[in-house]
Amino acid sequence: MNHFEVLDGELACEGVPLRAIAEAVGTPVYVYSSATLERHYTVLRDALVAEGLGDPLIAYAVKANSNLAVLRTLGNLGAGADTVSIGEIKRALAAGIPPERIVFSGVGKSESELRFALEVGVGEINVESEPEMHLASRVAQSLGRRATIAIRVNPDVSAGGHAKISTGKADNKFGVSFSEAERLYVQAANNAGLNPVGVTCHIGSQITELAPLEEAFIKMRGLVERLRAGGLHVERLDLGGGLGVPYFNMPTPASPADYAAMIARTMKGLDIQFAFEPGRMIAANAGVLLATVQHIHERPEGRRFAVLDAAMNDLIRPAMYDAYHDIRPVKARDAAPVTYDVVGPVCETGDTFTRDRDLPPLEAGDLVAFMSAGAYGAVMSSEYNSRLLVPEVLVKGDEFAVVRPRPTYEDMLERERPAPWQALLKTRS
Ligand code: LLP
Repeated sequence: MNHFEVLDGELACEGVPLRAIAEAVGTPVYVYSSATLERHYTVLRDALVAEGLGDPLIAYAVKANSNLAVLRTLGNLGAGADTVSIGEIKRALAAGIPPERIVFSGVGKSESELRFALEVGVGEINVESEPEMHLASRVAQSLGRRATIAIRVNPDVSAGGHAKISTGKADNKFGVSFSEAERLYVQAANNAGLNPVGVTCHIGSQITELAPLEEAFIKMRGLVERLRAGGLHVERLDLGGGLGVPYFNMPTPASPADYAAMIARTMKGLDIQFAFEPGRMIAANAGVLLATVQHIHERPEGRRFAVLDAAMNDLIRPAMYDAYHDIRPVKARDAAPVTYDVVGPVCETGDTFTRDRDLPPLEAGDLVAFMSAGAYGAVMSSEYNSRLLVPEVLVKGDEFAVVRPRPTYEDMLERERPAPWQALLKTRS
């Protein structure tokens, strides 16, 4: 469920017609719905609470959509933040998320990142390997602190989905095996720089079925029980992110209610604080990328291209993961569909959003929206081809605000400078 509906014949975000945003800000532009963000967070939280899973920490995965206004929207509802860099921790703090609700994840945390995380007092550092655990201990001791850690386990389950975003098999770079986790937990409990509070896993993203998650969670429960049986203190179980979303023409993924019920079933009787790191299921369907059709280009060989002003640098998911995004004209013509290849203007064939897509007939100047683009959209954008970084807009009710403006070309050029030996060269304007 989301808040992008047709209003008076044109697609709107909550009470704001997308056309009004395009006219005010130009295209391409990302548009996010506050109501959808809030709803997704609340539905998940309520489902977990309804299943008696206590007061879980829902640490929103900042990597999915790190705009400060998005983080504030979720932070105001009590969300924590799952972060993977100093930049993301700074964003979470800037959005008012308290440090104790921040989880610091990631495979290769550097010494300076760990120092920063410890100095600001993040609530949980998820360590992914033995060397990283020892580094965390050294850094903590140098600061006269103990690092609160959870050990990330790689449960060795196949989550299905795209290979590039599947993380839970033993040959992926993430986490340690169950036996290593037990050994490391004992070490950590006896280490002056470490305070192990729990274990964590994350088996991948866009997982639409519960079975692989359930398999992993049962194994994680077993681990908690073995650790506790060994006299170790385990108070938190972080179950990662990963529940998928419906990207239009696909089987409906498991709902938050199904997910919560599965966790209640697999964890029955286990007294523990649960943590979650959802990204996509909160943000994906809360955002669209709005673009303008530049022209329709028909080739004699029979292909018909709808060339947009948005490109792979603005939304890379189709090029990178063959991802499917529903494309909706803001004002759909009431006529038989036409088959298009929808492409951007960037100079490579990879800049193709879709091929052979049947859409209502399009004309130059039409606005189209890439649906479900709120997660892993703007955050993965770049200036490839020296195209300006795509702006972002947040809608609430009848209002909208530009929450990341489109930079100017001057902004873009000013970030760079000649090397000293080039100083005498005149730059031609
Ligand atoms: N926790 C950890 C440790 C993660 O690595 C991730 C995602 C999440 C949580 C959030 O997962 P989610 O709830 O969003 O599924 N760029 C890709 C997705 C990469 C996901 C990476 N890790 C895409 O566009 O599909």
